[in-house]
Amino acid sequence: MTIAITGASGTLGRQIAEGLVRAVDPAGVVLVSRNPGALADLGADARFGDFEDPGSLRQALAGVERLLVISLPRVGERVPQQQAAVDAAAAAGVGHVLYTSITDPSDSNPAYVAAEHRRTEDHMRASGMAWTFLRNSIYTEMLVPTAQGALAGGTLVTNIGGGATSYVARADCAAAAVAALTGEGHEGKAYDVTGPEALDAEAQAALFAELGGREVTVTHVDDDGWVAAMVAHAGMPEAAARIYASFGAAARRGYADSVSTAVEDLTGRAPQPARAALEGLL
Ligand SMILES: NC(=O)c1ccc[n+]([C@@H]2O[C@H](COP(=O)([O-])OP(=O)(O)OC[C@H]3O[C@@H](n4cnc5c(N)ncnc54)[C@H](OP(=O)(O)O)[C@@H]3O)[C@@H](O)[C@H]2O)c1
Repeated sequence: MTIAITGASGTLGRQIAEGLVRAVDPAGVVLVSRNPGALADLGADARFGDFEDPGSLRQALAGVERLLVISLPRVGERVPQQQAAVDAAAAAGVGHVLYTSITDPSDSNPAYVAAEHRRTEDHMRASGMAWTFLRNSIYTEMLVPTAQGALAGGTLVTNIGGGATSYVARADCAAAAVAALTGEGHEGKAYDVTGPEALDAEAQAALFAELGGREVTVTHVDDDGWVAAMVAHAGMPEAAARIYASFGAAARRGYADSVSTAVEDLTGRAPQPARAALEGLL
């Protein structure tokens, strides 16, 4: 079995690549990246592939049987490239394609990225290849700037209302991906890859206070209030703030709090609580 991942030099990609070469013979691992030289130390077959050039992906995927497409970072622009990557995989003869999606990419989910992941999933379903969706929750590491802002100002400004998010450590997403890539029986399955708990605003503030060593209150605002606060106090461009605000809206409306057993089911190890994943990062 020859297993490949795209975007192998990214933060998640590198962790998956390291897990793969530990789990199986590196001779059967293909690491596709715009920057294959950065992966030479892993002993796998690192190949050049760029989503901007689907022909390069098709070439890079020669002989690959199972492929993980790591979603691209360019929110708002990535669907055509991701769909082209799926087409390149089918053309190269890949039999089983996996994809890093989002929890609950249904059309009612207000998270801005939900539609992009849903359209990529739909394209995979129609591709003729076997498919698996690794629907990752929000990375726990994404809380670092939130925590830093809350600790600096003494309050967590949030638009999640009474909602909660089941943050998952990137390392657990990587371990789940390695297990799904190297195991059997995952075709036609969609896994919610989540942490072990869903954190509401008060739980987040309490965690930041504990790790940061100072009191953190909670200030609830609506979406517009949150965008205004991020633009004014965090220097975030408004367009980016609107995208992030949509994650808060998704949490507020109950689209982000499902807690699954997928990490443990896939890897045999319980996912890290947010506290453990954030320790040392603040
Ligand atoms: N669940 C969450 O909370 C969350 C948060 C942020 C992002 N995400 C999603 O999860 C993905 C992985 O997260 P991450 O933290 O590892 O992101 P990252 O460090 O920014 O990595 C981005 C990845 O995109 C690849 N890439 C970008 N442009 C490419 C191109 N033209 N051709 C080929 N590959 C390209 C990079 O691969 P190479 O450089 O090796 O080519 C890299 O693997 C992100 O891209 C994003 O879709 C999820």
